[in-house]
Amino acid sequence: MSNLFRFGVSLEKELLEKFDKLINERNYPNRSEAFRDLIRQELVKEEWREGKEVAGAITLIYNHHKRELLDKLTDIQHDFQKIVLSTQHIHLDHNNCLEIIAVKGNPKEVKKLSDTLRSIKGVKHGTLSMSSTGRDII
Ligand code: NI
Repeated sequence: MSNLFRFGVSLEKELLEKFDKLINERNYPNRSEAFRDLIRQELVKEEWREGKEVAGAITLIYNHHKRELLDKLTDIQHDFQKIVLSTQHIHLDHNNCLEIIAVKGNPKEVKKLSDTLRSIKGVKHGTLSMSSTGRDII
């Protein structure tokens, strides 16, 4: 652990109390781990901003009965085959499907794929989880 550095942080009492409440709610074991996580969150945001290779997941909820929609979703994923790692399809109930698409690649391409899929008629809800390849995050 010789590469661990300590430094002091000055905070207003009220802000520190809010921070402690937050990290307690999120089950961080201590302030250091919570602080590390905050830094990592910002570093990942930078990866997306700077156009580094990123990873993530697109989640879609859509109507199972719209057959043309299924074809569209598949066609688009083939068009973006370079960044689609895998797709998991879950039959939520009689009417609804959940699809999770794992992606890795250029942030602009990933966002374009996500926007294209989410804007298709019949897609009820879509999210993009913007994560990292983990290579540059300690
Ligand atoms: Ni299904």
